[in-house]
Amino acid sequence: MKTLKKYFIVTLFVILVACDISLARTKNSENEKITYIVHVSKPRMPTIFNHHSIWYQSILKSISNSAEMLYTYDNAIHGFSASLTIEEVQLLKSQTGVLKVTMDKNYKLLTTRTPKFLGLDKIANMFPTTTISSDVIVGLLDTGVWPESKSFDDTGYGPIPSSWKGKCETGTNFNTSNCNKKLIGARFYSKGVKASMVSIDETKESLSPRDDDGHGTHTASTAAGSPVENASLFGYANGTARGMAIGARVAVYKVCWKDTCSVSDILAAMDQAIADQVNILSLSLGGEAIDYIEDNIAIGAFAAMEHGILVSCAAGNSGPTSLSVTNVAPWITTVGAGTLDRDFPAYVNLGNGKNYSGVSLYKGSSLPHTVPFIYAGNASSDEGGGQGLCFPYSLAPEKVAGKIVLCDRGEISRAQKGNTVKSAGGLGMVLANVGTGEEPTADVHVLPAISVGFTVGEAIKKYLFSNPKPTGTIVVQGTKIGIEPSPVVAQFSSRGPNSINPQILKPDLIAPGVSILAAYTRNKSPTSLDSDPRRVDFNIISGTSMACPHVSGLAALIKSVHPDWSPAAIRSALMTTAYTNYKNGMTLLDSANNKPATPFDFGAGHVDPVLALNPGLVYDLTVDDYLYFLCALNYTADDIETMARRKYTCDPKKNYSLTNLNYPSFGVVFEIGNGVKEIKHMRTLTNVGAAGTYKVSIKSDAPSVKISVEPKVISFKKNEKKSYIITFTTSSSKSAQSFGSLEWSNGKTIVRSPIAFSWNLRRKVQE
Ligand SMILES: *[C@@H]1O[C@H](CO)[C@@H](O)[C@H](O)[C@H]1NC(C)=O
Ligand SMILES: *[C@@H]1O[C@H](CO)[C@@H](O)[C@H](O)[C@H]1NC(C)=O
Ligand SMILES: *[C@@H]1O[C@H](CO)[C@@H](O)[C@H](O)[C@H]1NC(C)=O
Ligand SMILES: *[C@@H]1O[C@H](CO)[C@@H](O)[C@H](O)[C@H]1NC(C)=O
Ligand SMILES: *[C@@H]1O[C@H](CO)[C@@H](O)[C@H](O)[C@H]1NC(C)=O
Ligand SMILES: *[C@@H]1O[C@H](CO)[C@@H](O)[C@H](O)[C@H]1NC(C)=O
Ligand SMILES: *[C@@H]1O[C@H](CO)[C@@H](O)[C@H](O)[C@H]1NC(C)=O
Repeated sequence: MKTLKKYFIVTLFVILVACDISLARTKNSENEKITYIVHVSKPRMPTIFNHHSIWYQSILKSISNSAEMLYTYDNAIHGFSASLTIEEVQLLKSQTGVLKVTMDKNYKLLTTRTPKFLGLDKIANMFPTTTISSDVIVGLLDTGVWPESKSFDDTGYGPIPSSWKGKCETGTNFNTSNCNKKLIGARFYSKGVKASMVSIDETKESLSPRDDDGHGTHTASTAAGSPVENASLFGYANGTARGMAIGARVAVYKVCWKDTCSVSDILAAMDQAIADQVNILSLSLGGEAIDYIEDNIAIGAFAAMEHGILVSCAAGNSGPTSLSVTNVAPWITTVGAGTLDRDFPAYVNLGNGKNYSGVSLYKGSSLPHTVPFIYAGNASSDEGGGQGLCFPYSLAPEKVAGKIVLCDRGEISRAQKGNTVKSAGGLGMVLANVGTGEEPTADVHVLPAISVGFTVGEAIKKYLFSNPKPTGTIVVQGTKIGIEPSPVVAQFSSRGPNSINPQILKPDLIAPGVSILAAYTRNKSPTSLDSDPRRVDFNIISGTSMACPHVSGLAALIKSVHPDWSPAAIRSALMTTAYTNYKNGMTLLDSANNKPATPFDFGAGHVDPVLALNPGLVYDLTVDDYLYFLCALNYTADDIETMARRKYTCDPKKNYSLTNLNYPSFGVVFEIGNGVKEIKHMRTLTNVGAAGTYKVSIKSDAPSVKISVEPKVISFKKNEKKSYIITFTTSSSKSAQSFGSLEWSNGKTIVRSPIAFSWNLRRKVQE
């Protein structure tokens, strides 16, 4: 349980550049200005002001002559952002109407086969309207868009939805003619990043919605890209690339620059996206999990939820460490990553005749002839040597020329290591996971290369160290589909329990996030290396960044069929129909240890959009339900006003309970010393299908917990709501994490919720 102590974890959301840099933010010294986000009580505006922005200006002027306002917010939060000294912040906190002042943060950015894998081809037959243009709008906060990509071709799309209030902003290499009936909006936000002194190199980064990075184009096309035939990366993953919701419209909000996204910019984009009237917001970015009231993305997402917008976020790439999941507020849909049934196999054949398998996306012929083979740690250019990490210029050309080089993974981007080997005259590279990682990542490299898991890497090293003249070949085998078992939870996918609030089980669910093919920028090479001249229309990348837009798109699809469903109802439909077993009945595996995964790994399970369109019953939630939840968290009146942008008084006589939020899953937390403890969760089901009778059944692997449900049978009329209470009783004061599930079934439709039990978790978290 030592991992429980790791409470705050910073996450990168793209695996492509897999360098685990943490975001060390230097404290501001006396006169240095840094950006703060200021939450203001708008109703307390003195009557002499006739607009809140004038009042906010006057608040700022009263504490500083020089401070400039970066943004005024009105939809995502009430307040503004500005660069301030510590002294100014102290003054600001005592101003009338100022509720909370939080420091700006910099966050990181954390498909051809997917539609068929998910059964979307079946949906096209069941709901033909889902393939024609719909009025559902998906907003993406990311690195912008490459509008020329065929994934944003608007041929056949109807007029822009009349609800749309957004626009297509003009800037470097981007003007209104880059938008169309598919890509209906494009905006960009850079004030926060600029104020945080991350300079923007305008020769490399377009001051416009144009995507110079590729991440944003990839996520936007995954969520709602138009179908593109014959898409592939150098022939890999070939087929028709399409987004999850082909009919939906795309609106991009560029908030990330060179992999850095400032919360002040993100909030400005959320503020605008709410005004623009998007229906879904997709955020493949994040930082560490922090208390909701300190987390401005969670606060902005609360406002979005109030406007009926479903906010879908990546869970983070800090798995398989426990408690690593981020973006955990209950009004956010939190998405982890699983694999597809597609792989890019390759193998190394050693001089001793043995074969070792891995994955590769190398374009071109393999290295079929046998060549000498060396470990990078034995080929260092520096006398001290010994490092196997293949940093640039770290290899001695006379030691690696004409050879295959084995490099250890870590510290710098994987593609960069390939470049190091190639520059030193190496012919091929084997990239080995370090630590215990058994999940290799398929990458595009500049030379024949294969990625292998830790155990395979160790076996190859053993051969290299014991053989006086080691040799090998690399054989790349192309794209293979029908891989079993699939999906498995990706090793990197961040895991529960929820460190802020273990009663809310997170992640909510998983979706495809490993080796996903989608549209890309043409301003960058697929390896991200400046020295790589190649440009591609589609690239293959991995991360919870890729899983998130799958769920955003599927939510858009559900919204197009059920326009009146709330964000909570849509999420409930996705969760209660998610699957946790393979067809043979075995539980989905965790790639980190090849053992059955748990709800802390996959939440409710892997998304199944075909079933999600007809969930039978849903666990719906209203804004009031969430306000009750904030009361149960013992938030102060100012905290609640900061979160909900309104005065709301918790009734001291009311019995607010964290366990009664109408969530489609159960985080059961026993915080007990001795004796019996009973925990009740109340839930309310809404029938969104035909009238019928549902019966409950429970599974659990926690023998020390007694579970009872009352009532056990519920008959629903159409659209009827009915409640039940589930009671968990334990006599054990200490036990291992264990899991279960609750199912309501009418014999045809199964409405399933995961249950996760933990004992004394909170105390451990606080150690
Ligand atoms: C937009 O840019 C395109 C291509 O650069 C150019 O042909 C067109 O005239 C521009 N349109 C406007 C309205 O500026
Ligand atoms: C797809 O590619 C194949 C082979 O390159 C070609 O024969 C075929 O015409 C292409 N189809 C389309 C629709 O472009
Ligand atoms: C992908 O390409 C391979 C080899 O050219 C071909 O056999 C296969 O049918 C293609 N797959 C799809 C989905 O087009
Ligand atoms: C390694 O793979 C090659 C090609 O598939 C095969 O010919 C060879 O027999 C394999 N060797 C071993 C030891 O499995
Ligand atoms: C190569 O490196 C390994 C591990 O650092 C070491 O054990 C081995 O002795 C080295 N081999 C040679 C020939 O230097
Ligand atoms: C809120 O306060 C009550 C009363 O002090 C306490 O019993 C409860 O545990 C607190 N809840 C949380 C989530 O801290
Ligand atoms: C409040 O809820 C707790 C636990 O569900 C229960 O034991 C208690 O009786 C309730 N109190 C009131 C006043 O309803």
